[in-house]
Amino acid sequence: MQRQSSKLFTKVLIVGGGLMGAGIAQVIAESGVQVVLVDQSEAQLERAKQQIEKMYNRRHPEIDVQSVIKNITFTTNMEAGKKCLLAIEAVPEKMEIKKEVFRSLSELLPDNAIIASNTSSLSIAAMSSVTKKPENVVGMHFFSPVPIMKLLEIIKGINTSNETVEKVREFGELIGKEVIIAKDFPGFTVNRALVPMLNEAAFLVMEGNDPAEIDKGMMLGANHPIGPLKLIDSLGVDVLLFTAESLYEGFNDSKYRPCPLLKRMVEAGHLGKKTGKGFYNY
Ligand SMILES: NC(=O)c1ccc[n+]([C@@H]2O[C@H](COP(=O)([O-])OP(=O)(O)OC[C@H]3O[C@@H](n4cnc5c(N)ncnc54)[C@H](O)[C@@H]3O)[C@@H](O)[C@H]2O)c1
Repeated sequence: MQRQSSKLFTKVLIVGGGLMGAGIAQVIAESGVQVVLVDQSEAQLERAKQQIEKMYNRRHPEIDVQSVIKNITFTTNMEAGKKCLLAIEAVPEKMEIKKEVFRSLSELLPDNAIIASNTSSLSIAAMSSVTKKPENVVGMHFFSPVPIMKLLEIIKGINTSNETVEKVREFGELIGKEVIIAKDFPGFTVNRALVPMLNEAAFLVMEGNDPAEIDKGMMLGANHPIGPLKLIDSLGVDVLLFTAESLYEGFNDSKYRPCPLLKRMVEAGHLGKKTGKGFYNY
């Protein structure tokens, strides 16, 4: 299932081989572009390879997954990607870790390289500030699972040049994504609209409403394909709380106040599907 190769970037460096990094590596490798996938852990690189094999085989059982795997170099050594003109960072959502990676990438890569972050909530401007070329820093926010979700949200930071945005937009389309452009404010576009709605659904439960009734209401009354509480359970209650907190703190506005029930659920270990219990039991 090879899509048109990119003439823009022939080799892309991805830093962080977790859930997102492996998914991003897969879609880029599927389009025939070489990928260097870097993680600090050998064991994680092995898991990344298994994730890609499983995901690809499920969607394309008739094609040998080696046609994709052969395009990916799995390594713990970032130097392997030193000639890349595009790097995408997918390390954990912590500003200190991101800045450290951005500093290293800025030293390692050619001056005209673009450095992108897959952050869901952190400031692109802050990451750009530690690099030599802040105009070449941009957000490329993929959605999970990356090979299935169509959207790529590109985030233009205060320092990001139009040329950088246009290059990553073109690349995003070449690897088969639908692209939207968002400004660099907490939650960007999708989470800014989605998270307050999910948070409000949690308030409805806290007030004594039944999760199944709320979900049915939103599916049949607002035409949503999945109810908000089912969606929270599948995203992770902890993930929603974290994003709700970053909106609340980022805007300093009480309208984003995270629902206290979410906090209690996280404290109790009710994180949704991944722990077997959230708003529903699994
Ligand atoms: N999980 C999602 O649904 C989702 C969706 C969109 C965006 N994101 C964002 O994507 C990023 C990654 O999320 P994830 O869910 O893949 O996390 P993850 O924890 O699954 O993966 C992070 C990986 O980074 C590696 N790592 C840590 N420090 C490193 C370093 N200095 N160099 C190289 N590798 C390093 C870890 O070993 C780990 O494998 C985060 O910024 C997150 O907010 C996540």
